[in-house]
Amino acid sequence: MPAQTPAALLLLLLAVREGGAPGAEEPLRPPARIGVIGAGIGGTAAAYFLRQKFGRDVLIDVFERGEVGGRLATLNVDGQDYEAGGDVIHPQNLHMKHFAKDLGLSTLQRQFSPLGIYNGDEFVFEESSYYLWNLIKLFWNYGLNPLRMYIWVQEILDKFMRIYHYQSHDYAFSTNEGLLHALGGASFMQLLNQTIEEAMQEAGFSQKFINETVTAIMRFNYGQGASVSGFVGVISLLGVDPGLWSVEGGNKLVCSGLLSASKAQLISGSVLSLEEKTRQKGRSGDPVKQYDVTYHSKSGLTTELYDIVLIATPLQPEIAHIAFHNFSPPIQEFSRHYHQTVTTLVHGHINATFFGYRDPSQFEPSSIFTMENPKLFINGIIIVFPVKKSARKPPLGPPVWRVFSHNSLTKEQLNLLFSSYDFIEEKNWLAYPKYNSQESVPPIILHDQMYYLNGIEWLASAMEMSAIAAKNAVLLAHHHWYKNLDRVDQEGLHDRLQAEL
Ligand SMILES: Cc1cc2nc3c(=O)[nH]c(=O)nc-3n(C[C@H](O)[C@H](O)[C@H](O)COP(=O)(O)OP(=O)(O)OC[C@H]3O[C@@H](n4cnc5c(N)ncnc54)[C@H](O)[C@@H]3O)c2cc1C
Ligand SMILES: *[C@@H]1O[C@H](CO)[C@@H](O)[C@H](O)[C@H]1NC(C)=O
Ligand SMILES: *[C@@H]1O[C@H](CO)[C@@H](O)[C@H](O)[C@H]1NC(C)=O
Ligand SMILES: *[C@@H]1O[C@H](CO)[C@@H](O)[C@H](O)[C@H]1NC(C)=O
Repeated sequence: MPAQTPAALLLLLLAVREGGAPGAEEPLRPPARIGVIGAGIGGTAAAYFLRQKFGRDVLIDVFERGEVGGRLATLNVDGQDYEAGGDVIHPQNLHMKHFAKDLGLSTLQRQFSPLGIYNGDEFVFEESSYYLWNLIKLFWNYGLNPLRMYIWVQEILDKFMRIYHYQSHDYAFSTNEGLLHALGGASFMQLLNQTIEEAMQEAGFSQKFINETVTAIMRFNYGQGASVSGFVGVISLLGVDPGLWSVEGGNKLVCSGLLSASKAQLISGSVLSLEEKTRQKGRSGDPVKQYDVTYHSKSGLTTELYDIVLIATPLQPEIAHIAFHNFSPPIQEFSRHYHQTVTTLVHGHINATFFGYRDPSQFEPSSIFTMENPKLFINGIIIVFPVKKSARKPPLGPPVWRVFSHNSLTKEQLNLLFSSYDFIEEKNWLAYPKYNSQESVPPIILHDQMYYLNGIEWLASAMEMSAIAAKNAVLLAHHHWYKNLDRVDQEGLHDRLQAEL
């Protein structure tokens, strides 16, 4: 008999079951225990969606070796907390918006801050506090490029928004490429294959605009220039849209809120290894896969068994240190690297002379983006405000600046950037992937019931992307568990759902 037969037979049985053959089979038992590794926005959103999807009886454990929030974290400078990692959220990031609303969290609007684009010697573009004057300058410098970019990006965003429609109808995708394709077809796949520079050249944007504005936005948001792939490039361009917001008290409150709403158990410990276990089970004697999670905590080494495991941390060895034992086929290596970005918060006066100003009192920019220039040691710098609304009074003394750089700033560099400063705090991140075009995206399904959320970061890394990945993985796990595959990897979903309206 050909080897495919069992699978074909299974499909046939499923088809019969879907057809509603009455009482043909007993209902499948729900999973007893689900493990989630990582309590960043991805892991905590997963716990939240797992509870919604699998009901109140399943036991959910979330492992975290550091702080709940992961790359959403604050730093304290002179008595106030400031965002140190993931900062702004787009007004159309619907999962993040719903989380904040469901958890009763208030939001803060990003304030207007005059932008300067610095090429290493001088500003090539500079805004002031006069809105109209800024528009004239923008037009004078770049013609219709900024307006065209806004329209170009919104068109892509419109397609991207289809994900919420699909997910609200429980559709899931078993690969990140499949998800991307379902949103924007070949044109989205192409964005993965090109750099943002190539994509925008093809769309007719001027090289000057790309060299200055686009590169500067990429460097500010992802620490890398216009050679990042087109899709993350577009996500990055959305990061200068109007209406950006963050969570009052700190974005990490979304994570702790989701975790407690999910009634999952938080296990403070470091997961060391995952191991496949097979046991004979069920009437039919079908082998059932389960997973041993071995972790290290205050009480030593412990191993727990789970029916389903969701991995919500990048699996790069330098990040997660998780070993996979006894898997067949073996789990692939996650060898592509993450980009280092250092956040430095400085309470002090900026050195206007460093940015080419003779008269410091004329210096207006409060966000400075930078162009590609090897002698530059920063990617960007911006005035930031406390995460507490009550602390957002106009500062009496100097402001707090947030500096992004690839490496830790030296004393000499700080003394160049600032004419004076007192408080300083630093956080070193393996922040997001090192993006380039033409590379494959990691899988979502690592094994039968073991799912990986963070491969989506290779499309683009953002809070909302992790939330989308969480919802997708939970839907996928649910469909696989209950052998209900008619909502997985469906083609032509957009047209089909339109027709249903
Ligand atoms: C400087 C910076 C600025 C950013 N700005 C923005 C922004 O403005 N807007 C935006 O949307 N996004 C931004 N991002 C990206 C955003 O922060 C991330 O995409 C998002 O927070 C990732 O969440 P996650 O849950 O997928 O991963 P993480 O937050 O990294 O969570 C993974 C968790 O797993 C834990 N963990 C890892 N290994 C183990 C183990 N072996 N055992 C137990 N626990 C483990 C980690 O401690 C961590 O808490 C920024 C990121 C950085 C670093
Ligand atoms: C992307 O690039 C790969 C390899 O260069 C190629 O095989 C594939 O067809 C390309 N896809 C698209 C949509 O351009
Ligand atoms: C854009 O930058 C590239 C390299 O960084 C340079 O060769 C080119 O002359 C620049 N073009 C414009 C119009 O600024
Ligand atoms: C400011 O920048 C200028 C130019 O780079 C530099 O010469 C000076 O030492 C810096 N520091 C202060 C305190 O002005």
